[in-house]
Amino acid sequence: MNRAKHIAIIMDGNGRWAELHNQKRVKGHERGAKIVKEITKFCVECVDIQRLTLYAFSTENWKRPTLEVEFLMKLLEKYLKKELSTYIQFNIKFEPIGDISAFSSSLVKTIKNVQEKTAHCDGLVQSLALNYGSHDEMLRAINKLNSIDEDITEATLSDALDCKHNVDLLIRTGGDHRLSNFLLWQSAYAELFFIDTLWPDFSSDELKKIIKKFKKIERRFGALK
Ligand code: IPE
Ligand code: IPE
Ligand code: MG
Repeated sequence: MNRAKHIAIIMDGNGRWAELHNQKRVKGHERGAKIVKEITKFCVECVDIQRLTLYAFSTENWKRPTLEVEFLMKLLEKYLKKELSTYIQFNIKFEPIGDISAFSSSLVKTIKNVQEKTAHCDGLVQSLALNYGSHDEMLRAINKLNSIDEDITEATLSDALDCKHNVDLLIRTGGDHRLSNFLLWQSAYAELFFIDTLWPDFSSDELKKIIKKFKKIERRFGALK
């Protein structure tokens, strides 16, 4: 049976959830943050899962209204500060991916602090994709490798990426069937699950059901059975 060692999630549908409940979009993001905590804690308990990568803010999300972007930045900072003790308590290592240099110095400091304080943790790795886009990640990696004389190999390119780990199971909530610039290289052989549930309604029970289905899939990687 397959093991979902690396699960990646496109957490989509916060705004629509809020609209459905006659609330402002930001209320959906607030509720979404609670689900991040629930799902992370669930993954800690699953022996198979070593890595959980969550898409929190894309390189394209800057196109949103300033107030929403500002709210998301504040929410992220608040979440990381509040949950630092949870990361440590549950032995979770925090690893951001994406170009965080575009964030305010205070947010960068908070991100780096959680990263440093959880560097010793050797349980689940929770990776938040922050100002992340696969195209940007690949361009930064290629530019990093530019000065090297040898030919670039699959291994050297993979190692130069922010996320160096292939995805086993990729889930997108919110009903859309697209990857929106998320982990394109790493998901080459991921099993894809697109579900209608809006992120604030997602639960560990639903994740459990997806993992059960994932385990039964025949993953051939181009070979025959
Ligand atoms: C995903 O929810 C969260 C972020 C992109 C930060 P959305 O905000 O995209 O919610 P919908 O898709 O508009 O419902
Ligand atoms: C993808 O959701 C990004 C995150 C979940 C952070 P979007 O809502 O930004 O994606 P599109 O615009 O529908 O492709
Ligand atoms: Mg969306």
